[in-house]
Amino acid sequence: MRVLGVESSCDETGIALYDSERGLLGHALHSQVAMHEAYGGVVPELASRDHVRRALPLLEQVLRQSDVSLDSIDAIGYTEGPGLAGALLVGAAVACGLGMALDKPVLGIHHLEGHLLSPLLSAAPPKFPFVALLVSGGHTQLMRVDGVGQYTLLGETVDDAAGEAFDKSAKLLGLGYPGGPAISRLAEFGDPGVYTLPRPMLHSGDLNFSFSGLKTAVLTLVKNRITNICEQDRANVARAFVDAIVAVLVAKSVTAMKQTGLQRLVIAGGVGANRQLREALDAAGAKRRFKVYYPELEFCTDNGAMIAFAAAMRLQRHPDAARREYGFTVRPRWPLDELR
Ligand code: KG4
Ligand code: ZN
Repeated sequence: MRVLGVESSCDETGIALYDSERGLLGHALHSQVAMHEAYGGVVPELASRDHVRRALPLLEQVLRQSDVSLDSIDAIGYTEGPGLAGALLVGAAVACGLGMALDKPVLGIHHLEGHLLSPLLSAAPPKFPFVALLVSGGHTQLMRVDGVGQYTLLGETVDDAAGEAFDKSAKLLGLGYPGGPAISRLAEFGDPGVYTLPRPMLHSGDLNFSFSGLKTAVLTLVKNRITNICEQDRANVARAFVDAIVAVLVAKSVTAMKQTGLQRLVIAGGVGANRQLREALDAAGAKRRFKVYYPELEFCTDNGAMIAFAAAMRLQRHPDAARREYGFTVRPRWPLDELR
């Protein structure tokens, strides 16, 4: 089965072709980061307009890379939600328009299911069941995954997502957007223990997270030194922030592994690219005898490959999941555990 995937939920346009026998045939991505940087965050209307400009050139690029014709595809998967409504509508319109023109069936995919299944695209994929730590710009969740469409929510953030905490704290430290990679790089120069930031809900006894207080604690530190924050001090604050957030993510993941008794932990979403988090999770896994799986770095952040792949997995399980009805809606809010 050969599936075209279209991702446009936020500030990346991603197109990919996945073949269930041959694997990923081609994929192309355009990141809008440079465009949104000037505004310090994603401007939804600009994002939508840019998806319109990028989608078809990226599709042409993927077809050239993979050397297959559009006629040979069996279905088109697109991100139906969650995400920015306008941005989602562009990808849905492109996918459904193509479907109609080519007489191919289409299906809407949950963006987080794409992230969740993305480690299965790697050379040594995890087997079901596993626990997944989903850490993206909009979501922080621990899920139990028993198979495609079998997702049980174990815990989630009650306020900011982990990626959001990275981005907001980076902004407070005068770093650009997106802040995750920048604050993580700066933290490498920081001395540990100069500042200690709170580890929110570390001992709450459940698997929920809260990160908005952490951002406020960074604000307080920065504000107190606003006239005189030297480069080393900024690195020390960055280090304290990264240490705190990584400690919470690791502790909750370890508790989830204990509670479920499972042996595989999968990390997905943009924050999964974080080096400090990966090191700490690997160390925890080695100590507690569970194995940690990551998507390839290029598939940690948003991309079309995970959408094409999730669509193919879904179609293998439910061959009638795709439709030849080309009207569409999108779901800016869509809880993952509503999926079947
Ligand atoms: O999954 P993703 O690409 O988009 C969403 O679905 O939200 O995640 C984007 C988030 C941003 O908040 C970004 O700052 C964060 O992932 N991120 C990182 C790193 N790379 C991306 N956070 C920490 N360290 C990184 N290396
Ligand atoms: Zn994402």
